[in-house]
Amino acid sequence: MAVVPNQQIQQIQMGQHGPASHLIVHISDTHFLGGSRALYGTVDTDTPVRQALAQLERSGLRPDALVFTGDIADTGEADAYRRVRALVEASADRLGAQVVWVMGNHDKRAAFRTDLLGQAGSDAPVDAVFDLGGVRLIALDSSVPGYHHGELAPSQLDWLADVLGDPAPHGTVLALHHPPIPTMIPLMSILELRGQARLAEVIAGTDIRAILGGHLHYATTGLFAGIPVSVAAATCYTLDASAPQGELVGQSGGQSINLVHVYDDQIVHSTVPLGEFDVATRFDAAFLARMQSLSPEERTEAFSRQADSTGSVA
Ligand SMILES: [Fe+2]
Ligand SMILES: [Fe+2]
Repeated sequence: MAVVPNQQIQQIQMGQHGPASHLIVHISDTHFLGGSRALYGTVDTDTPVRQALAQLERSGLRPDALVFTGDIADTGEADAYRRVRALVEASADRLGAQVVWVMGNHDKRAAFRTDLLGQAGSDAPVDAVFDLGGVRLIALDSSVPGYHHGELAPSQLDWLADVLGDPAPHGTVLALHHPPIPTMIPLMSILELRGQARLAEVIAGTDIRAILGGHLHYATTGLFAGIPVSVAAATCYTLDASAPQGELVGQSGGQSINLVHVYDDQIVHSTVPLGEFDVATRFDAAFLARMQSLSPEERTEAFSRQADSTGSVA
């Protein structure tokens, strides 16, 4: 089946909403180790990232950016950064997407700069601003060297306030590793972002439309300072949100990435499980083209009316 580029698909409007103006792919917590060593001796970190990129390339989507919200390498090894960078940059080139790397608590600033970003080494926070075709993406380094919890230095908050002083054409998306929302896993709350009230003071009322986070290893959403927060699960292993109460359980399964569609009036986050699954039902692009050729009334009869011979979806 021919893959139809999403620019074409995105122009098809058969509902009430206009097309998405931008698409960000949100990926988190790759936790690569040097020499392709397995995490905890058992977890293959590379295959799920390859799988994610293969699914994106197969989809025909043309994302503006791939945003990785931290814990790129598990212990900051040079080979880990170089390996994930090679894998991701090759795919991003084919997708025509920018790549944004955000620091996590497992990352090491100096190696992150030299081996992942190709910059001069420095232990200063790795904060940066990207222009994704009018959407401003701010990458904020919430890591605390030597610790796993998160915190933002006063100088970082001053910088952030300064950047946010001028609004962006399509608004701002803030990406940071430690999400400013509660977690139901008690041990993870020890490792949360501290000083959240100070961040709220800086970003409330600005043009930030969404906050992207990682760190929790399970997909979740919340609201912070009136701004939607979306956490992408990890690609390496996930934390089981249904584990027995009081336990923290990492499992080899349930990995996913998020698609972040930016519309004029809202931003929609969609979780994509990683893996190959049996197809249960399928309507191909030719079927979509047929629906497009019909009037709204005709397509309501053809696709919405119950007991239609085409079967049902959703
Ligand atoms: Fe992590
Ligand atoms: Fe983390």
